[in-house]
Amino acid sequence: MNPLAIRVKVIINCAMSADGKIALKSRKQTEISNEADKKRVHELRSSVDAVLVGVGTVLTDDPKLTVKEKYVRDARNPVRIVLDSKGRTPPDSMVLNGEARTIIVTSEDCSVELPNAEVLRCGIGRVDIARLVSMLEEKGIGSVLVEGGAEVIWSFLRSRLADELYLFIGSIVIGGDTSPTPAGGEGAASVEEAVELRLMKAEVIGNGVLLKYEVTK
Ligand SMILES: NC(=O)c1ccc[n+]([C@@H]2O[C@H](COP(=O)([O-])OP(=O)(O)OC[C@H]3O[C@@H](n4cnc5c(N)ncnc54)[C@H](OP(=O)(O)O)[C@@H]3O)[C@@H](O)[C@H]2O)c1
Repeated sequence: MNPLAIRVKVIINCAMSADGKIALKSRKQTEISNEADKKRVHELRSSVDAVLVGVGTVLTDDPKLTVKEKYVRDARNPVRIVLDSKGRTPPDSMVLNGEARTIIVTSEDCSVELPNAEVLRCGIGRVDIARLVSMLEEKGIGSVLVEGGAEVIWSFLRSRLADELYLFIGSIVIGGDTSPTPAGGEGAASVEEAVELRLMKAEVIGNGVLLKYEVTK
């Protein structure tokens, strides 16, 4: 349950390897999902009002964050949102290709302007995600799919702003002590700070497994 009683539904979706890594040790993305899971993710994207990532994901993977016609016919693209306090999104990034509405969220002291994007300034020094969620609600955005990366996922979980967590576990081992995991950032310092989940559903998808959790505390 969302403790701030904000009505925006926030779902986190992430694909990880069997050993709990979401990218290579270089932090570059790699194939973790299978085709059936990609279709699920594109359907999920087309069902929400906005899809959100951190600038770390933009810098490493340069994702488009649109819905592929290959997976969803007559696809509609959600708004693309990037958390980018200092305005580091490269102007030639795929998220700025004009194919879908894009909002770059910076801190209030950042004056960057970017092509094909609205800039929303929110938070001192770093994007304040609780405030952002209420600003998005004011803009009529009622559902947000958080697609990564590790630091952003942890921020949404830690601040109890996420309602659900969907984890696809692919049949691959990536290994490495420093390869990113679904939740990065500072992490919990005690069991009280750890985020509690309730398993809602476990589903086999091809050669992988999808776990759907509700964030409870
Ligand atoms: N397997 C998957 O499903 C999947 C999906 C997506 C990404 N990934 C992987 O995830 C990795 C990228 O993750 P990452 O942790 O490096 O970067 P990230 O979570 O994408 O972005 C983190 C950055 O977002 C900015 N940010 C602004 N406000 C924030 C806030 N309130 N909380 C957290 N971050 C905030 C910060 O930069 P500023 O301080 O400059 O604002 C921060 O460094 C890559 O390896 C990528 O391949 C995997």
